[in-house]
Amino acid sequence: MNYQDLFSKALSGMSGNIIREITKVTQQPGFTSLAGGSPSPDCFPARELQEIAAEVIEKKKIAALQYGASEGYLPLREWIAGWVKEKGINATLSQVIITSGSQQGIDLLAKTFLDPGNRVLVENPTYIAAIKIFSVYQSVFEPVFSDGDGIIPESLEEILNQKACKLLYLIPNFQNPSGVTLTAQRRKAISEIVSRHNLILLEDDPYGELRYSGEMIPPMKASDPDGRVVYMGSFSKIICPGLRVAFSIGAPEIMQKVAIGKQNTDMHTSNLSQLLIYEFCSRGLLPAHIEKCCNIYRKKRDMMLELLETHFPAEVSWTKPAGGIFIWAKLPAGVSSMEILKEALKEKLAFIPGEDFFASGGGSNTMRFNFCNITSAQMEDGILRLGQLIKRFLTNK
Ligand SMILES: Cc1ncc(COP(=O)(O)O)c(C=O)c1O
Repeated sequence: MNYQDLFSKALSGMSGNIIREITKVTQQPGFTSLAGGSPSPDCFPARELQEIAAEVIEKKKIAALQYGASEGYLPLREWIAGWVKEKGINATLSQVIITSGSQQGIDLLAKTFLDPGNRVLVENPTYIAAIKIFSVYQSVFEPVFSDGDGIIPESLEEILNQKACKLLYLIPNFQNPSGVTLTAQRRKAISEIVSRHNLILLEDDPYGELRYSGEMIPPMKASDPDGRVVYMGSFSKIICPGLRVAFSIGAPEIMQKVAIGKQNTDMHTSNLSQLLIYEFCSRGLLPAHIEKCCNIYRKKRDMMLELLETHFPAEVSWTKPAGGIFIWAKLPAGVSSMEILKEALKEKLAFIPGEDFFASGGGSNTMRFNFCNITSAQMEDGILRLGQLIKRFLTNK
């Protein structure tokens, strides 16, 4: 059977996400992987969740196991509305919706706002899965120049002076893939541009709590007088991703539409997952748990930065993130990270080549490393061997 002519236009030309493809290969025994976007299982609060699971199934059987509201489990929504106040976000209950991961939040917001041909502004590079989602809604990408301080407001304004766009997608903290954080000054400038040009801003913040140095910068949602910002947070990187619990916060009119979209997609996020997250958070366990994860990840970040300094050739540069889970490296122009990956895979070594993080091409000399989900021994071995491989490539160029 040839299905090609029958597939939807949106999906027929689309390939799988490169991270998921590489991650499948790296699950073979003996692989050293700097690839993937997973947090460390050492940071899953498994024992606490096990106890809570037994308790909620026994004592809150209906809330945990029956169908629930599309907007999410009410006590969890209330808890989140209280929690985000610490970041300066004032949200009423009707502004908070639980989603099955912020991945679904991005999809639902795209479904809410995007018609085919609408222009979406993205950081360059940006999160691969967001590129895939916006592509399904047949968006036209407008990549905005970024540097070590995040996207450049002047570049954003220049595009908007020429073309009407609908949505700006930003990951302001410890960006995926670059690890870069958008400065407070730029956040303010960008907020003004967003207002002036009638944009919706999707502020995607799954890494914000994982800060290892410096001070928290308030989210753009904290100063959003016109209700243009939809803020997304996730429990994936601070509790565990398998439960698939995240949240979106936006103007009530927007969230009503998002809830309608969610009714059609999955009806509601797993109630059992929501109750596990709610009980964990409302028992006050989250702050100490985040601190524990930050202490583990800070050490891993520092170790990888040191190893890169020792083993990588001087022609390669890389970011020094203040948080999150990724380091982003740049090879000299003309050196292909995909070619290096092909050789690396033969040696059972993996990383993510950067090309697919660029919505409109480019970036073939870039690469992303996950420093949090790897043992010290694997990290030492992986960075040493990758450094040697890159040196061989540069000598033979
Ligand atoms: C920037 C960004 N947004 C969203 C997600 C999706 O996270 P979730 O597990 O909440 O769906 C990820 C996951 O890696 C991410 O890096």
